[in-house]
Amino acid sequence: MKEIIQKYLNEIAEFVADSPEQVEEFRIKFLSKKGIIPGLFGEMKNVSPEERKDFGQWLNQLKNSAEEKVDFLKKTLGKKDSGNEKAIDLTLPADFISLGSRHPLSIVRSEILGIFSRMGFSIAEGPEIEDDWHNFTALNFPENHPARDMQDTFFIEKNPDIALRTHTSSVQIRVMQNTKPPIRMVFPGRVFRNEAISARAHCFFHQIEGLYIDENVSFADLKQSLYYFATEFFGQDTKIRLRPSYFPFTEPSAEMDISCFICGGKGCRVCKGSGWVEILGCGMVDPNVLKNCNIDSKKYTGFAFGMGIERATMLKYQINDIRLFFENDIRFLKQFENAT
Ligand code: PHE
Repeated sequence: MKEIIQKYLNEIAEFVADSPEQVEEFRIKFLSKKGIIPGLFGEMKNVSPEERKDFGQWLNQLKNSAEEKVDFLKKTLGKKDSGNEKAIDLTLPADFISLGSRHPLSIVRSEILGIFSRMGFSIAEGPEIEDDWHNFTALNFPENHPARDMQDTFFIEKNPDIALRTHTSSVQIRVMQNTKPPIRMVFPGRVFRNEAISARAHCFFHQIEGLYIDENVSFADLKQSLYYFATEFFGQDTKIRLRPSYFPFTEPSAEMDISCFICGGKGCRVCKGSGWVEILGCGMVDPNVLKNCNIDSKKYTGFAFGMGIERATMLKYQINDIRLFFENDIRFLKQFENAT
């Protein structure tokens, strides 16, 4: 008996099929009601009680290998490598690859740069590690100005001359030193300030500053350019207002508010009831700054402005915590999948 079963096991192992018909023939031969294996099970009653247990085990093994063979042949038939247990089933759906999306700050950065590029501004970038001259002195910061204080600025290795830039105005200086007016440029980049991290402030964030220098550039040019930006970015109904302010590198200086695009100026949570939200700082380039960069301040005038990309993004998408930008929580980032 054992020999017969071994013979059938070998036959099953060696069997190859070229067509589904051959597989079916094979199945009928071994597994159908009148096939070899049920026939052998029928013989059980004739086997002596001592041998019956072993015989039963061998028969089960034979049945399993016949069934496995049929399954395998059905799966692999017609595919290359059909003799190979690891044959790949090309009809299975592919693994799902989820697509990434752009970070909200990148989306808003390109949108703002796009608006200014339509007004003829080109883009320049500069180093994040700066010296005191580019970050402060050339920008007309008085020696004892509080912004030079350790509270705002990260200095490098106890060298008070080298710091992480606190604004991208340092790039304005680099450009003015190397470019003859007219200059019409925007400067995107990361800036660093030694501030306690909270929902409203972070120790680093992103800015876009802008500079326009030519003959006869006036405050009216500044106002019109920034008004165009505000309506493009926040919507055509947006109004702007300029409040007097102070920056060492501009004179006069102003802060620009936009009418609240949530409540349309009536007063709400976003504008804290005032109807206005602050969006950027700006002003006419101080003649001292032009002189520091060897630009003739009698011939040329210019305006400059600077804004935080985080702030613009938080206002536009009503995000209430700046830390969300840097946590990379997929549930936050996914919400910008369809933003353009
Ligand atoms: N550099 C200023 C800041 O970081 C912004 C600014 C730029 C203001 C240009 C006026 C003109 O806050």
